[in-house]
Amino acid sequence: MRLVVAVTGASGVELGLKLVSKLPERVTGYLILSENARRVLEHESHRVYNDDDIAAPVASGSFPSDAMIVVPCSMNTLAKIACGIADNLVTRTAAVMLKENRPLLLAPREMPLGTIALENMLKLSRLGVTIAPPVPGYYSGHATVEEMEDFMIGKWFDLLGIEHTLYKRWRIEEL
Ligand SMILES: Cc1cc2nc3c(=O)[nH]c(=O)nc-3n(C[C@H](O)[C@H](O)[C@H](O)COP(=O)(O)O)c2cc1C
Repeated sequence: MRLVVAVTGASGVELGLKLVSKLPERVTGYLILSENARRVLEHESHRVYNDDDIAAPVASGSFPSDAMIVVPCSMNTLAKIACGIADNLVTRTAAVMLKENRPLLLAPREMPLGTIALENMLKLSRLGVTIAPPVPGYYSGHATVEEMEDFMIGKWFDLLGIEHTLYKRWRIEEL
């Protein structure tokens, strides 16, 4: 599987980087990252692109990506994607996912959510985009922040069809 992972300038950049570190071997990540995030990740086995590298392979519809996740997704990037603005590699690649009818998952991080952001999310949801913010679940019995993050990453993996054992499923022992 070829998964595009974009990290934008919302708080929770670490969550995006942690998601990448949890990808199973059969998933190749194509990462679009801020400068600081790039420095952390450049020695790992995934392909890393700068947000201003508009000519990167993932910016083309001819690149056979299977899905894209933006985590965390800033309200700025959310608004641009909702309006079809493609002025950097993240927004261009998201526009490609939409025009090619490929899975696009956004993890918007803001609190509280303003009306404009909510309208943008509704518009994108109606276009088939999955809106999956970083919301912790409390039924999985996390004792640490680490476990809470694993739960959220596991939920995103579920949505992307990536198998994992990152969190304990509700009443799984009864099955
Ligand atoms: C420390 C810090 C935290 C931020 N957290 C958020 C956030 O959680 N959500 C958000 O939408 N914007 C947040 N912002 C604002 C965005 O970084 C800003 O809107 C920026 O233009 C987003 O650019 P991008 O969408 O190209 O990454 C934060 C900015 C800073 C400096």
